[in-house]
Amino acid sequence: GVTRHYKFNIKLQNVTRLCHTKSIVSVNGQFPGPPIFAREGDQVVVKVVNHVQNNVTIHWHGVRQLRSGWADGPAYVTQCPIQTGQTYVYNFTITGQRGTLFWHAHISWLRATLYGPIIILPKKNVPYPFVKPYKEVPIIFGEWWNADPEAVITQALQNGGGPNVSDAYTINGLPGPLYNCSAQDTFKLKVKPGRTYLLRLINAALNDELFFSIANHTLTVVDVDAIYVKPFKTDTILITPGQTTNLLLKAKPHFPNATFLMAARPYATGRGTFDNSTVTGLLHYETPPKSSPSASSFKNLPLFKPTLPALNDTSFAANFTRKLRSLANSQFPANVPQKVDKQFFFTVGLGTNPCPQNQTCQGPNNSTKFSASVNNVSFVLPTTAILQAHFFQQSNGVYTTDFPATPIFPFNYTGTPPNNTMVSNGTKVVVLPFNTSVELVLQDTSILGIESHPLHLHGFNFFVVGQGFGNFDSKKDPPKFNLVDPVERNTVGVPSGGWVAIRFLADNPGVWFMHCHLEVHTSWGLKMAWMVMDGKLPNQKLPPPPSDLPQC
Ligand code: C2O
Repeated sequence: GVTRHYKFNIKLQNVTRLCHTKSIVSVNGQFPGPPIFAREGDQVVVKVVNHVQNNVTIHWHGVRQLRSGWADGPAYVTQCPIQTGQTYVYNFTITGQRGTLFWHAHISWLRATLYGPIIILPKKNVPYPFVKPYKEVPIIFGEWWNADPEAVITQALQNGGGPNVSDAYTINGLPGPLYNCSAQDTFKLKVKPGRTYLLRLINAALNDELFFSIANHTLTVVDVDAIYVKPFKTDTILITPGQTTNLLLKAKPHFPNATFLMAARPYATGRGTFDNSTVTGLLHYETPPKSSPSASSFKNLPLFKPTLPALNDTSFAANFTRKLRSLANSQFPANVPQKVDKQFFFTVGLGTNPCPQNQTCQGPNNSTKFSASVNNVSFVLPTTAILQAHFFQQSNGVYTTDFPATPIFPFNYTGTPPNNTMVSNGTKVVVLPFNTSVELVLQDTSILGIESHPLHLHGFNFFVVGQGFGNFDSKKDPPKFNLVDPVERNTVGVPSGGWVAIRFLADNPGVWFMHCHLEVHTSWGLKMAWMVMDGKLPNQKLPPPPSDLPQC
């Protein structure tokens, strides 16, 4: 591989959307941020210089970071933030991945405006395992806030209520024509008849899983989270925050007398109607040179809208995720751990915390704050980086290693809310010896209602070996696990009112964050960390930190 150098200047930039101009934190003044291009095997070096008042870190979401945990980026987990005027160089190598990932800020809610694509091409002269696309197009979903998202979450954490929702969903930063004042800000994809396009979808939205569809066109899923899958056709895809999906779009063989809308709409929140809260973009056919209609007749072509599943269409979600299978052939084998060294059962869900005495809280029962937890522990970020404390053996006052292997108090997960909704706070990690083969069941709780949680694991891909609704049954469910061609990814939706089982091999020493990629749930504490110890051999150890690693 080669080395690819990038420079990210973090600076303020005025951006106008929905007739609302505001100064946002950006990379190099771009919104969304610039793409990173690499081939599998390349080294990527990104020099990040912070010119704003906010503390900043950047996370390379989904990049495995094999023995390069210092470059992973979650604030107070692998590094202290880059402070105003400081520089930090992220240095990592792309190993065993090809497809689409993305980078985003990993501190507070800065990722609302600080995000961009990571495009990973196969090694030189290695073809795609599918038809060669004529063109490749990143499609990155986000949310636009008229307010300052930092202020939104700060206030929500103080008074314990849910934060305001964003003002628009966006495709490549653009809300599209259904929103007020946004006809100019519409994503347009121009295609040639008969050609095949590779759409690289990224869900960088803060808080919403999205359905996506293009009117009158079938999509073929070929890759998720930078791992190839067995191709399958679908009209609609579901993509959670933190997930990426590569799709083939085959343009119609002839110039159609129509323009087509593409649209994305939340799976679980909002109105579920095709209205001025739906982000849309346009699919235009480039007119063939001869028979080309005049510009005005082009403008007046009929417009077709896609149909999207209904709000909370859980069965669509379950069927869609069941179709995702690893390619699992000789060239791209699925290395599913067949034996398990350690099993874990984690509940993920919302809960409550007592309201501090001098505050008025808007949480459940008027006297509590919203909280979220893993196994009833609401994770609190320390004031120094856990990885640093671990490496220099200074865990005292930073973290403890008593993360519970099972929930502290049990629930019935089928929808009856438990009496006790209180969770406790802590900075607890799970310690894993090098090369531990882990099986983890993630069970959604019904503490404050059932919800789906897109769980993201740093530092690893995992295999999704099972999923189901209701309570996980440790006797009946494991024999049905798929250990042959389960999908391999870094973010999985824990079904609302259900569970997923994942397996991964802890072959990457370091401290690895795992959290819900709905930012509001992360802020409320739905997060934890795995601490993977060094192995015995030199190439099984985490190297010392780079000299410019920021200090707290
Ligand atoms: Cu994309 Cu820890 O996040």
